[in-house]
Amino acid sequence: MSSGGQREQWATRIGFIFAAVGSAVGLGNIWRFPFQVGQEGGAAFLVIYLLFIVLIGFPAMLIEFVVGRHTERNPVGALQEIGAGAWRYVGWIFIATGFVILSYYSVVAGWTIRYTLLGLQDDYIADAAEAEAQFVTLASGLDAIFLHAIFMVAVIAIVAYGIERGIELAVKVMIPAIIVIMLGLAVYVATLEGASEAYSYYLSPEWGVIAAEWQSILPAAAGQAFFTLSLGMGVMITYASYLGEDRNLAEDSAIIIGFDTAIAFVTGLIVFPVLFTAGVAPGDPGAGAIFVSLAAAFGDLTFGWLIGAIFFATVAIAALSSAISLMEVVVSYAIDELDLDRVTATLAIGGAIFLLGIPSAYDLVLLDLFDLFADQILLVLGGLLLAILVSWSLSTLAIEELERGIGDLGSLGTAWIWAVRIPVVLVLVVALVLGILDYYE
Ligand code: PHE
Ligand code: NA
Repeated sequence: MSSGGQREQWATRIGFIFAAVGSAVGLGNIWRFPFQVGQEGGAAFLVIYLLFIVLIGFPAMLIEFVVGRHTERNPVGALQEIGAGAWRYVGWIFIATGFVILSYYSVVAGWTIRYTLLGLQDDYIADAAEAEAQFVTLASGLDAIFLHAIFMVAVIAIVAYGIERGIELAVKVMIPAIIVIMLGLAVYVATLEGASEAYSYYLSPEWGVIAAEWQSILPAAAGQAFFTLSLGMGVMITYASYLGEDRNLAEDSAIIIGFDTAIAFVTGLIVFPVLFTAGVAPGDPGAGAIFVSLAAAFGDLTFGWLIGAIFFATVAIAALSSAISLMEVVVSYAIDELDLDRVTATLAIGGAIFLLGIPSAYDLVLLDLFDLFADQILLVLGGLLLAILVSWSLSTLAIEELERGIGDLGSLGTAWIWAVRIPVVLVLVVALVLGILDYYE
């Protein structure tokens, strides 16, 4: 049952947008996106990914927003309110996904802190094999567990302060900083000698790759679209539940998606020129590849230590604003449904997530498995079930809720519902099946 006190709300109109952008922009853009591009065929992946962002991501984000604003509850409570039968329990998938993702997300965020420090100590190594060895020692074991702990403490501290004084204040500082720094870096690396080769790798697709490898490109692109927009695990339900006012949610979604896509795109413009200039191949698979190749590349550049330190510090900040949203999903549940106070809930949940992250911090192979499982299976499953429920049995409610703050949508409302009923559901089903096959390979 919901607790007796007044539920929290965003203090300013812009606070909600900033927080949602802060959630969206994170390791997904700056760590996951370039390594997916490298692993799944360069520009060809980029094209499919952009297509999915618009066709699948946008309508799916609206679904989460209307559910959150309509129910004004955490994902578990929200689904209990709008779902019947077994659908009432879909919210639990969201909570579980949040738990799993944050556990390893925080480990990767810990690496970004480590690599910021490496830059400041001028310790990037140009030799690729040595850079790899350096990564392996730093990225798993006690060092990694320690940094994972530090990062979780930062997350706990912000979330414990609550919506207005914690999350809202933090993101208003972080987001502008990220945008300015990333643009500056992109302009700087454009002057590198490998830039033009990198641009053609990143921007001119080889269509044959899609035909040959769609079985892996499709689930990877769908999973990445969901991951990067923070969909499929109730973050956008939770953030919209603190709205209380009649915002134009379609406009807000477009802004959030625009920012997230721009940052991912610009990250590619930074990462690939750096890699090509240093002669490092972008195609290596796995979660660590991007750290190894970037560190080797920064080790090779003049002022690479400085550029690297700025780059990794920015990534750490972006990771923090996303991690607080993951944490807030679970915390909002504990506050609404278990009647815990915010500080107790944050400490208990943060501690549990820290423990769950230890295996990932201990062994890279486990981290890759957690990531694949959460991204290609859990996120997609949660998103799929929510899309089916809302578009097929709650369409009138959904359209009415979306119209609050926009006005009469006419046939656009129906178009939105049908975009979810068939294209979104279809893509997610295919992605889920291929993702499961991929996972058990
Ligand atoms: N969207 C975040 C990113 O791109 C990750 C994330 C996923 C955050 C799911 C919250 C929920 O880094
Ligand atoms: Na993102």
